[in-house]
Amino acid sequence: MTHDHRVAVIAGDGIGPEVIEAALGPIERAAAKHGVGLDLERLPYGADHYLATRETLPEPAFRHLRDDVDAILLGAIGDPRVPANEHARDILLGLRFKLDLYVNFRPVRLLHPDLTPLRGPLSGKDRRIDFVIFRENTEGVYLGRGRIAGTDYVAEEVNTAAGVERIIRAAFEWAKAHGKTRVTMSDKANAVPAHRIWQETFRRVAAEFSGIEAEHRYVDALAMELVREPERFQVIVTNNLFGDILSDLGAGLVGGLGLAASANLHPGRAGLFEPVHGSAPALAGKGIANPMAAVLTGALLFEQLGHPEAARDLERAVTETLAAGVRTPDIGGTATTADVAQAIGRAL
Ligand code: NAD
Ligand code: IPM
Ligand code: MN
Repeated sequence: MTHDHRVAVIAGDGIGPEVIEAALGPIERAAAKHGVGLDLERLPYGADHYLATRETLPEPAFRHLRDDVDAILLGAIGDPRVPANEHARDILLGLRFKLDLYVNFRPVRLLHPDLTPLRGPLSGKDRRIDFVIFRENTEGVYLGRGRIAGTDYVAEEVNTAAGVERIIRAAFEWAKAHGKTRVTMSDKANAVPAHRIWQETFRRVAAEFSGIEAEHRYVDALAMELVREPERFQVIVTNNLFGDILSDLGAGLVGGLGLAASANLHPGRAGLFEPVHGSAPALAGKGIANPMAAVLTGALLFEQLGHPEAARDLERAVTETLAAGVRTPDIGGTATTADVAQAIGRAL
C-alpha cells in the first residue's frame, strides 16, 4: 500500500513563492515518476499574513506542523516591511527551535565546472568540491538570550553539553554512513573560552569513530582554507552562527545562493526543508530567481522521506539543465524561473 507523505508548504516572502511554485513542478513530477505520494498543504504564513493579521505562526498551526505532517517545505522568510524580522524569529527560527531540529544539513557540491569563481591551481574542470556542513541549529547566539543594560546590548551564546554532543555525533554518524574519511570541527576556542566544550566533546566523540580522521580548524582559518582548497573538506561541523556564515561561503564556491539547499532535521521526526537563500527582495516579482536551490531542497526532502532514487533523479535533472545552459541570470544565463523549472521537468 502506498502512503501519501503529507508535506506542508510555507512559500513565505519575496522570491519564496516564486521559487517554491516553480520547484513544485519538477518535485511533483519526480514524485509521480518514482511512485511517491505527496499530499501538499499550502499555509499562508509570512510577512503579508503577519502585516494583515499580526499573526506570525499561531499555536494551532504550530501544533499541526508538529503532529500531523511528514515534512515542511519553506521558501524564504524576510521582508523589508518587517525590519526587526520578528515573523522570521517565530516562523523560521521558531520551527527550528520548537521542533528541536538540531541538524542544519547544508551540502556544498560543484554541479558544473564553470560555476565556481575559483581559478588555479586546479582548473574548474578538475575541481571536485563536495562537502557538507552540519550546522548546530538550536543553540548559540541564535537563542537571543541576553539583556539590554542601559545603552549596552549583551548577547549570550549557549553551548550545552547535550547540544554540542548531538550535532558532533550526527556529523560523524553521517560521515560513517556515507564512506567519508574526515570530519572537520570548527570553533573559535582560542578567543571564546566557552568553545572549549566543542574541543573536548569533539575529541571524545571522535574516539568512537576509528577510521574517520578528526581535524580541527579555527573558523577564521577555515574560511581562508575553504577558498584556497575546498576539495580537501568532506564534513564540517560547527555552531549555529559559524554554520550560517560558512554555508553562504560554501554556496559562493559552487555557484551561489541560487543553488544551495538545506534541511533542518531531527532524526526520526518531520524535517523543515528550505533553500539556504533568503527572500531576495530586489529580485522578487521579476520571474528571474533561480529555482534550483528549491528543487535541490526537494531532493533533500525525498531523501529524508525514504526515496533516495527520486532524490538522485532530481539532482541529475538539475545537473543536466545546468550543463544544457538553461540558467537564470545569477549563474550567467538568460532563462526565467519558469524556463528553468520546465527544463528540469523535461529532464525528468
Ligand atoms: P538573500 O539570500 O535573500 O540574497 C542574497 C543575494 O543572493 C542577493 O543578491 C540575491 O539577489 C541573491 N539570491 C538569493 N537567492 C537567489 C535566487 N534564488 N536566485 C538568484 N539570486 C538569489 O539574503 P539577504 O539579502 O541577506 O536577505 C534578504 C531577506 O531574506 C532578509 O529579510 C533575510 O533575513 C531573509 N533571509 C531568509 C532566509 C530564510 O528564510 N531561510 C535566509 C536568508 C535570509
Ligand atoms: C539562514 C538564514 C537565517 C539564519 C536567518 C534568516 C534568520 O540566514 O537560514 O541561513 O540565520 O539561520
Ligand atoms: Mn543564512
